[in-house]
Amino acid sequence: MSISVISTAQQAQGIDFSGKTAIVIDVLRATSVITTALENGAQEVVPVKTIEEAKSLFATCDTSTTLRGGERNALKIEGFDLGNSPLEYTQERVGGKTVILTTTNGTNAINNVKGADEVVLACFRNAAAVADYIIRRLPRCDSPTDDAVGLSYHGSRDVVIVCAGTEGRFSLDDGLCAGMLIELMKQEAEVETDDLGLLLSRFYNESKNNLLNALSGCYHLKRLFALGFYDDIKFCLQTNCVTAVPLLESRTLHSRIVSLQGSDR
Ligand code: MLT
Repeated sequence: MSISVISTAQQAQGIDFSGKTAIVIDVLRATSVITTALENGAQEVVPVKTIEEAKSLFATCDTSTTLRGGERNALKIEGFDLGNSPLEYTQERVGGKTVILTTTNGTNAINNVKGADEVVLACFRNAAAVADYIIRRLPRCDSPTDDAVGLSYHGSRDVVIVCAGTEGRFSLDDGLCAGMLIELMKQEAEVETDDLGLLLSRFYNESKNNLLNALSGCYHLKRLFALGFYDDIKFCLQTNCVTAVPLLESRTLHSRIVSLQGSDR
């Protein structure tokens, strides 16, 4: 399996993702929020790029079962039901609901990889579940006869990890999580990475015992800390505590993210 890493949502724009599996990471905080919402029973999360899109989509929905969430400048958008703190996305609040979400970088990155064969969302909280999901979808051997013997293969061997970044710049929290994913997948499969993937997996190996310490000085972390979101940071840096694997499905006009939990995969 080959894994390459893209450092920002903007860099993903214009790349041809066909034939590839894209894993989008926005640790602080969009993919942590989406994973938490789905883990807590949200029926679906619809990621949209702009506030206007969120508002016009909401206008077409059953407003008793739909919530608008997201942020601009890390703060809740005026008139929206939820901000971008994963701690807001409790079972009581989002259980059974559709969440229309727009964030500065995360939902942008998701929308920029729509051409991929499959889009999966990752964060520290579901990293092991995502790695497991990707590995289980690999063919059991590289033989071209796999399909013929019934080992049908759904995922792509070529994985591109897209770090959402912050305001067009690489963000270390996303990179550290990319390194963790690569290391987890290396434990189960033969993996080749590009140089950025190599660097990030080495960085993760050196840092895995203290993620918060490894991220000290990280621009987005400092910004969230200054805004008082320390509990969010702690929550987003917890590893392997949930099993939701958000997948983007493009079957409808508005892509939906669903949890694998309870499905047959
Ligand atoms: C984003 O998608 O830009 C981030 O999730 C921003 C934030 O932390 O609120």
